[in-house]
Amino acid sequence: MKEIKIEASNGSSRILLGESVKNLSNYIKAKKSVIITDNNVRQLHGHLFPESEIIEIGTGEQIKNLSTINKILQRFLELELDRSSLVIGIGGGIVCDITGFAASTYMRGLQFGFVPSTLLAQVDAAIGGKNGVNLLGFKNIVGVFNHPQFILSDFSLLNTLPEKELLCGIAEVVKHALIKSPSLFDLLEKDWDSLLSLKPNITGKIIEESVKIKADIISVDALEAGGRRKLNFGHTLGHAIEKTLHLPHGEAVSIGMVAAARISEARGTLSLYDTRRIESLLQNFKLPCKLPAESEPLLEAIKKDKKRTGEEIYFVLLAEIGKAEVKKMSYKELGKYIHDLCKHR
Ligand SMILES: NC(=O)c1ccc[n+]([C@@H]2O[C@H](COP(=O)([O-])OP(=O)(O)OC[C@H]3O[C@@H](n4cnc5c(N)ncnc54)[C@H](O)[C@@H]3O)[C@@H](O)[C@H]2O)c1
Ligand SMILES: [Zn+2]
Repeated sequence: MKEIKIEASNGSSRILLGESVKNLSNYIKAKKSVIITDNNVRQLHGHLFPESEIIEIGTGEQIKNLSTINKILQRFLELELDRSSLVIGIGGGIVCDITGFAASTYMRGLQFGFVPSTLLAQVDAAIGGKNGVNLLGFKNIVGVFNHPQFILSDFSLLNTLPEKELLCGIAEVVKHALIKSPSLFDLLEKDWDSLLSLKPNITGKIIEESVKIKADIISVDALEAGGRRKLNFGHTLGHAIEKTLHLPHGEAVSIGMVAAARISEARGTLSLYDTRRIESLLQNFKLPCKLPAESEPLLEAIKKDKKRTGEEIYFVLLAEIGKAEVKKMSYKELGKYIHDLCKHR
């Protein structure tokens, strides 16, 4: 087990890497605790949970809304939770987002912890203190910044994960390497097949490196005023592709990262050689790289994105593998690049 600490301006978290969920009770100091999980995770791993009340939710992005939060808050009332209680989310990013939001708003904030059970949640969603739900089709538009007390990452939970869910996490790991760590990128190039087959030692090392990158960024910029924006690499286009082509998040982000790499190349920062390396790594994971032929729907979707500010957006480019730069770009300029990329895909 290895512990990493996040010490951010708005709170702190202990990240317990490689800890077994069987030891979860060691981290529960509260008199009363409740577990929030989804039906898949409960069925597969419920036998490992400590003795506790359980609130079970469904699965899928459509349940990540205020109506699910409402039901959970009512259950908190029935269970007579108070400020001394602890809420633990065991599941993927959806369970973590819902748990963090419900716990942070009930009685103006209870302590909470996460046991992320997908790769995406272990390297991304559970870390960083963003807890939000969707409203009227806008993703994560209602939420709070608040850090969990602990994040217990048991890598063995990933063994039951379907490959398409594993790939969603892998796309975020590649993103972390691209924005901050040439050495993680080298490791992924060398050991991509060990990650795909979840070989324990390599997987643990890759998750640890990936978590450190996000934890470092959050510790400096928890509220997304600067460096945290780098975590959006591949996501401006990724979200637009996810919406318009209805692709899984990881696949959409993979295409978004290739596009952002090509735009970096067109602007003269990233070399053609590095762009090829990025594509070839993503292809090893069988993640898609090709943009759709139509650029207009993508641009429309980008303009609707909640992160837009006036006529320009923050767009994350690469100076090299392992080094990202955030630039303000006009929609006009971005539109031109996307149009060209879609045409010559
Ligand atoms: N708060 C943040 O900073 C942040 C960052 C990234 C993503 N997110 C959010 O995370 C969500 C996506 O998270 P996700 O990809 O983990 O999806 P998810 O929570 O929907 O989980 C994916 C599927 O895998 C199942 N599952 C979970 N653990 C499993 C296991 N060990 N074995 C087998 N099946 C398992 C779940 O039941 C679900 O069906 C999105 O809603 C996204 O907005 C939040
Ligand atoms: Zn993402």
